[in-house]
Amino acid sequence: MEETEEVDMVRASRFWESGDGRYELWLADALDPEQVSTVLGGRVPSALVVDAPYSAVTHAGHRSAAVTTRRAADFAASRKGGLRARADLTYAPWSCGDVERFVDLWSPLTHGWLCSLTDHILYPHWASSAGVNDRVVFAPLPFVETGSRVRMVGDGPSSWTCWLSVSRPRGEPWSKWGALRGAYVLPGERYLNSAEKSERIIGGKPVSGMCMIVADYSRRGDLVVDPCCGAGTTLVAARMMGRPAIGLDTCREHLEIAARRIARTHEQVTMLGAEQDWGQSEIFAQPGEKEECEP
Ligand SMILES: C[S@@+](CC[C@H](N)C(=O)[O-])C[C@H]1O[C@@H](n2cnc3c(N)ncnc32)[C@H](O)[C@@H]1O
Repeated sequence: MEETEEVDMVRASRFWESGDGRYELWLADALDPEQVSTVLGGRVPSALVVDAPYSAVTHAGHRSAAVTTRRAADFAASRKGGLRARADLTYAPWSCGDVERFVDLWSPLTHGWLCSLTDHILYPHWASSAGVNDRVVFAPLPFVETGSRVRMVGDGPSSWTCWLSVSRPRGEPWSKWGALRGAYVLPGERYLNSAEKSERIIGGKPVSGMCMIVADYSRRGDLVVDPCCGAGTTLVAARMMGRPAIGLDTCREHLEIAARRIARTHEQVTMLGAEQDWGQSEIFAQPGEKEECEP
């Protein structure tokens, strides 16, 4: 059970909506069919972009790394050193069964790409569940934040890596999509400005990374859904690039941050008077031209 979860939450509730109604946040469980149906209300996502919790092994590794760095930071502070302590994850890991339930539930609900960030342990389950749900599964793509410490305690359990799992429905006519990136290499947390750092939750992703994924796997006007949206980075990216979006999360505190970030992004985009284009796919895409293409 997630530590920050609303245990008595039995039905989904709309948490926040943008003034133009194009961006919605819901307090809802992405693994509960009834709640998901309430959230979608018959709407069909064009793309799912999800960064669900990682495995228990990665979470345990993160926890032991947090303890190690806290001790090291205390030591460094006592020596006037500069090491910063690391906060712990506030939500529970997902099991292979959770991944399978998620893909079984969401796969028939979307006609488009299913893009999921995950660790090396859960990746095989994302891929096999997508295959079982009659999806074409592509090779995993590395998602690397430069300078992030993925092996915090030597060879201990904190070693982990992040992969983007990508699949699309088999058998449907598929538009040409153009050349897509084969990896996502991004500046790590230490390179972010302080505003971005302060509103990033533990396990959150950089805006630049989610912008690239949203640009690659959706087009302007497509409905993007992030069923485990955390602090709303996917929706921030979607707002920057003119895709309407819906986010779900079981944690009220995360949704509060997400609402603030999306509203701020809306102001910035409105002030600049232009949505951004982070991707290659829109340049190469040829909407309307259909073809069957297998990997
Ligand atoms: C890795 S974080 C997402 C971080 C997000 N991409 C960001 O950049 O802020 C995973 C999120 O999934 C949420 N979560 C866990 N189980 C969930 C469930 N069953 N339904 C919806 N959200 C869930 C957690 O509360 C957490 O916010």
